[in-house]
Amino acid sequence: MAKLTKAQRKAHTEAEAILRKDRLSEDEKDFVFQNWHEGANHINGAAGAFFTPWGLAADFSIDAGGAGGRVIDLCAGIGILSYFLHHRAKWADNCPELTCVEVNPRYVEVGRKLLPEARWICADVFDWRDWQRELGGQHFDVAVSNPPFGAVRRTGNGPRYRGRQFEFHVIDIAAQLADRGAFIVPQTSAAFRYSGAQYFKRVEAGPAAEFERLTGYRMHEGAGVDTSMYKDDWKDTSIICEIACYEFDQDRARHGRVQERLNALPVPVLPYRPAEQLVLL
Ligand SMILES: C[S@@+](CC[C@H](N)C(=O)[O-])C[C@H]1O[C@@H](n2cnc3c(N)ncnc32)[C@H](O)[C@@H]1O
Repeated sequence: MAKLTKAQRKAHTEAEAILRKDRLSEDEKDFVFQNWHEGANHINGAAGAFFTPWGLAADFSIDAGGAGGRVIDLCAGIGILSYFLHHRAKWADNCPELTCVEVNPRYVEVGRKLLPEARWICADVFDWRDWQRELGGQHFDVAVSNPPFGAVRRTGNGPRYRGRQFEFHVIDIAAQLADRGAFIVPQTSAAFRYSGAQYFKRVEAGPAAEFERLTGYRMHEGAGVDTSMYKDDWKDTSIICEIACYEFDQDRARHGRVQERLNALPVPVLPYRPAEQLVLL
């Protein structure tokens, strides 16, 4: 369990009291999202459970889009990413259909209270084949995630990726489930450096490039959110991330076209020559 400061403990206790109410006002939900501490009763460090700061989640929704579509939030925590997707689209009366998948039952319980508009699934993302089957094989327009970062303990692998970074296992699974995706990843896992940097720079080596070579899925920068503004807003950690976007469906279509062109190439016909080596025998 995390060691909370006196102020954090007081705010968390207040958030717990709010959660005991039958109905929560929007102001109360905001308070809980900002003050309910993921480490108060859980070993959140070991589980890579650091909830997205409020301001970053708000900015993330610009890149995640998803209005009117079907969105899946993998490793959803208490649902802050989905909460902003819902509220950004609400004013245009174009809310996405949200599905949140989270392994920690208490986080799911809190999430259901804060975002009852979403369908909540308490499950391991690595069991995605099982729960997707239970959803009737549903496919999604957008996958979003702020997954655990790095070599956090996990129960399985993505369909292709075999490396150490949890975030790429989740992106690999997301590629199976959705047409496109937006993810919060540590800056060291991004295919570019932008947040807190002097200028934008693509990085052609490292984990994102290896993932692209393996899967064919290319990581893109989004609308240009500088996440370094929020680096000190995480609870009990400070980290610079990037918002990484993927166009899974476009990449699949592009690879399909390349494959079709290759298949359409005439197969070179070798002129018939008697097997000369046989003469040696
Ligand atoms: C970095 S936190 C982010 C939570 C939330 N997405 C947010 O933005 O605040 C990662 C979350 O993944 C959850 N998690 C860890 N392993 C998981 C797994 N195998 N399947 C589903 N969720 C998992 C943790 O419990 C935690 O809530």
